[in-house]
Amino acid sequence: MKKNLIEIIPQLLSTEINSDDYKNIFNVIKDVINFDNYYIFLLNFESIELKNTNKNIKKNVSYDISENLARELFKPESSVLTNNSDIIQLLKLKGRKYVISKLAIKNTIFGFILWENCTDNLEEIDAITSIISYRIKDIELTNVFKIQQKALKNAVEETHSAYKTIKSQNKKILAADKVKNEFLASVSHELRTPLNAIIGFSDILKAQVYGKLTKKQSEYIEDIQVSGIQLLGMVNEILDISKIEANAIKLVKRYFEISRPIIEATNILMPLIKNKKINLTYEIQKDIDIYADYQKIQQILYNLISNAIKYTPQKGSIKITVTNTNKKIKISVKDSGIGIDKANHKKIFQKFVQLEDAFYKKETSTGLGLTITKKLVDMHGGKIKVESEKGNGANFIVTLPIEQSDAPQT
Ligand SMILES: Nc1ncnc2c1ncn2[C@@H]1O[C@H](COP(=O)(O)OP(=O)(O)O)[C@@H](O)[C@H]1O
Ligand SMILES: [Mg+2]
Repeated sequence: MKKNLIEIIPQLLSTEINSDDYKNIFNVIKDVINFDNYYIFLLNFESIELKNTNKNIKKNVSYDISENLARELFKPESSVLTNNSDIIQLLKLKGRKYVISKLAIKNTIFGFILWENCTDNLEEIDAITSIISYRIKDIELTNVFKIQQKALKNAVEETHSAYKTIKSQNKKILAADKVKNEFLASVSHELRTPLNAIIGFSDILKAQVYGKLTKKQSEYIEDIQVSGIQLLGMVNEILDISKIEANAIKLVKRYFEISRPIIEATNILMPLIKNKKINLTYEIQKDIDIYADYQKIQQILYNLISNAIKYTPQKGSIKITVTNTNKKIKISVKDSGIGIDKANHKKIFQKFVQLEDAFYKKETSTGLGLTITKKLVDMHGGKIKVESEKGNGANFIVTLPIEQSDAPQT
């Protein structure tokens, strides 16, 4: 007993099908239409051919879209063709009675169904074919979504695993960095003790408390002392940068007269100043108290003055000026040395930067002094800048707030 089309529509819409098995839906159709076999041909956009998707009947028969076949199939006039001899010939079909119905959505044909030995229920076939067209497009879209979903999932997974790798590498780098900093800190510390002894004892010898020295002996002792001070300076810079990078520097603040750490820094460097016969002068406003870390302020001055000595030729001059303006202390260390090209004013504050200068290459250098100095000035809420031109001396100016928000009330 045959059913009519209306009865099977709900089933046509809901029967499960997938891209290479349409069997279920054609079983439903069999209740309305008589046919022996069906073949579905879909336009394959990549190779421009029609591919039979019905594996049961003919395996992967495909046809090139020759001009004639295309003209016949894609003619918009009729959606169902019966026993069209041109097509039967083109598709190399034999003997039987064929109906061809075109799969199309909104007049866009994307394939056809070949019904074999079919009685002519053309209207029903047309209606059924348009439903199947939507079902097939639906499957294709679902497949596209699945592919997209998979691609997206893979991308997310890849990103996630890359993130995990980076995170674990980062951890290793940080650990290695910590070991490096600890090593530098401990080595530098071990080096400081003997260096202090060398500098201290050469001082005592120089004072000739334990007997007179010959001219040559005095000269050599001076050399020992100068080299010792320079080496100690480098060791200190390495120690300081590793402390800074380990975030292990803390300020210990108290009130003191600003001139004291300045004089103290120049005293430590006096052997170098004398050795180069540099003329050092001060212009320090009296009685300026500052609330700051005494050691660190001394170090700032030590770094700037030792640079001034290093980059100033024999018999040059250095002038240190301190003024008190508007709740700020301005310290300037000005030399008559080789100067710094404007283009390099920013660069010199970066780690390990030493400007090329053949003549001064013989000086001991780490390229760390100004990096440390700037960090210490920053920690005090101050500013550092340089005024200089190449060949015309340099003037490093540090501005520090006198009072800081954390100062004890007196
Ligand atoms: N007073 C100065 N005069 C000329 N050049 C200077 C002066 N101070 C610093 N520089 C330049 O800035 C660079 C960085 O200084 P610094 O960080 O103290 O490193 P270092 O003194 O170890 O070379 C120096 O190598 C030098 O080229
Ligand atoms: Mg330096």
